[in-house]
Amino acid sequence: MEDIELLNSTFELYMQKGKEAKEKGNYALAKRNFMLAGETMMKIAKVSQGKLKEVRLNRAKRIVELSDRIGTEKEKKKEDASDEDDEVKKWQQAEIPNIHFSDVAGLDEVKKAIKIRMINPFLYPDKYKLYNKKTGGGVLLYGPPGTGKTMIAKAIACEVGAKFYAVKGSDIVSKWVGESEKNINSLFEEANKQDRAIIFIDEMDSLLGKRGQDIHNDKRVNEFLQQIDGFAGRNPNLLLLGATNRPWDIDTAATRSGRFSQKIYIPLPDEKARKFMLEKNMKNVPVSKNFDIDKIVKQTELYSGADIEELCDRAKDEPLLKAIETDSVVEVTNKDFDNILKIFPPSVTESELKKFEEYNNDIDSLIKNKRKKK
Ligand SMILES: Nc1ncnc2c1ncn2[C@@H]1O[C@H](COP(=O)(O)OP(=O)(O)OP(=O)(O)O)[C@@H](O)[C@H]1O
Ligand SMILES: [Mg+2]
Repeated sequence: MEDIELLNSTFELYMQKGKEAKEKGNYALAKRNFMLAGETMMKIAKVSQGKLKEVRLNRAKRIVELSDRIGTEKEKKKEDASDEDDEVKKWQQAEIPNIHFSDVAGLDEVKKAIKIRMINPFLYPDKYKLYNKKTGGGVLLYGPPGTGKTMIAKAIACEVGAKFYAVKGSDIVSKWVGESEKNINSLFEEANKQDRAIIFIDEMDSLLGKRGQDIHNDKRVNEFLQQIDGFAGRNPNLLLLGATNRPWDIDTAATRSGRFSQKIYIPLPDEKARKFMLEKNMKNVPVSKNFDIDKIVKQTELYSGADIEELCDRAKDEPLLKAIETDSVVEVTNKDFDNILKIFPPSVTESELKKFEEYNNDIDSLIKNKRKKK
């Protein structure tokens, strides 16, 4: 297997040489270096996993395309650089989504904690002042995939009316190997200028991985921690929100006090939450007279919110097909759900859930130990 660190440095070197040659107008040399950078990124992608692999492949393709264009568009001198600038702007203009807290099923305790920490300080600053209540800092939402973490972040953006910067960890890492530090810096500077702002880092594990394995990751994590300490820690109007389904991969320094210190577990939906979601997904859909939603609630233990959405969608397929064929209204029945449930197990496995339980227990015992020491 190729040495990833070596590949990363080779990639950076080619990119650097490419940019220098391009600035000097030596397009042939620039073209060659960008081509080699693209090929190297392709190799990096091949040894990467999952989403990161996909984004790195895209990155490689873009660089190769860029190298093809060099010289043909001499006028557009800054094109390659502006790619990155555009991206920074994209975070900054993050649209406020139209999702409210009332759309999020269950999680009452979670909602309450988030209201106290992230929403009310913006809505009732005078009251917070009166009670001399601390604001600012960071919250990390963690839990199995598809439980509504990203959805909650969007709802916070919507409820708060603060400037909201949404960043995906894997985007920062893949797009700017070697340049992430600069971009993290500019993100914090921009957010710090606002009256009130939230920086939301989705897929935080890919941005703040444990240090000691990859030099680029270490540089990025150090820069990020510095930014948190410099800005977020001091500015009470700047809040940090992170989300991850792999909390154990995050460098522990990132979750120390003053940083993403409040960790909130977003669990799989309980019965009440599942009922809310099933009802929402089946609202106004023609269902049989004896359609028993409580039965489905019982059948869907361990199904995530995203699973329930998909389950409802797939259960509608057969009746819908029949309705088209017979040009009539065919009602959805419990049998349609039974058929899909047979072939569609929950996406979160018991062993994954166990990992979360263990992680939560670790946190609990950490807190207990701290108390004992006092
Ligand atoms: N608690 C919930 N209430 C309502 N809908 C939910 C809930 N949880 C999940 N969903 C549905 O599932 C979809 C996926 O949820 P979301 O993207 O927020 O999951 P996530 O926790 O961020 O997952 P991942 O860890 O994979 O990023 C949502 O768009 C929503 O439709
Ligand atoms: Mg998510």
